[in-house]
Amino acid sequence: MNIIKAAHIFYEYMVRDENDKVIETTKALNDLSLDIEEGSFVCLLGHNGCGKSTFAKLINALNLPKEGTLLVNGMDTADGSLTLRIRESAGMVFQNPDNQIISNIVEEDVAFGPENIGLPSEEIMERVDEAINAVGMQAFRNKSPNQLSGGQKQRVAIAGIMAMRPKCIIFDEPTAMLDPDGRKDVLEIAHRLNREENITIVHITHYMEEAVDADRIIVLENGSIAEDLEGRPMDGTPKDIFSKVEDLKALALTVPVITELAYELRKEGLPIREGILTRKELVDALKPFFPKTR
Ligand SMILES: Nc1ncnc2c1ncn2[C@@H]1O[C@H](COP(=O)(O)OP(=O)(O)OP(=O)(O)O)[C@@H](O)[C@H]1O
Ligand SMILES: [Mg+2]
Repeated sequence: MNIIKAAHIFYEYMVRDENDKVIETTKALNDLSLDIEEGSFVCLLGHNGCGKSTFAKLINALNLPKEGTLLVNGMDTADGSLTLRIRESAGMVFQNPDNQIISNIVEEDVAFGPENIGLPSEEIMERVDEAINAVGMQAFRNKSPNQLSGGQKQRVAIAGIMAMRPKCIIFDEPTAMLDPDGRKDVLEIAHRLNREENITIVHITHYMEEAVDADRIIVLENGSIAEDLEGRPMDGTPKDIFSKVEDLKALALTVPVITELAYELRKEGLPIREGILTRKELVDALKPFFPKTR
């Protein structure tokens, strides 16, 4: 089943002057069609302004498509009576955890969503425990979020989303403001939620390395799926997409450092395969070129 079904969606931002007259329109999504399978881990890549965050906001019914239809867990985001249920099905984690944390105590913050939908207190406690455990923040449950690092705050924000038991979580550059340790933690949690809880993950990132372990990568450009140099959609496994080094460069994107290195070696004439993503894959590919050592 497809948890997200976008069919020919268009969206534009209108900038208005003080008299409410539209002075500028920006086409942010332009005939975007894409389906995301339930339980998958999908990375959305694309350079600044290609429409990634706009798509994320449409999934969460924060904005509605101007044209086309967008179904989330079978619910049409254009149907206002479904907005709350859509937001329960698809949670959002943004770049800056400070904008998502509301309470002065970690566990109260995590409880905020379930309280808001009027769940009985026993169920709230159960969900809060589960969510705090899932992100490994048990030791901090009675602390103030102000005492936490950026990565820890982001984990609390994720727990708040988890407590709503969503089917899908959209991460819009959740690691952009974190240090390398915080980035690693958040990414590991996203993968674990996907693997163990079968939560569909849509991960928007500028870090190519973070896309290597996704099930699927979709590259956006000008509000729809980008095309490679031969006109095929840039939508496939990390190995498929990162084999298209020239195509990504043409879209002003890079590839993971290891992939780039392997690509350069290949260009220099070393007969190694395309789409090498990890150190191990590179080492294995290079082994045949070294004499056996003891
Ligand atoms: N609130 C807004 N008002 C007007 N234009 C906007 C607004 N938000 C986004 N845009 C424009 O819509 C287009 C798509 O923006 P969007 O934020 O979806 O891109 P993005 O892929 O998330 O970029 P980034 O990688 O920088 O986060 C861009 O041209 C952007 O300038
Ligand atoms: Mg964005």
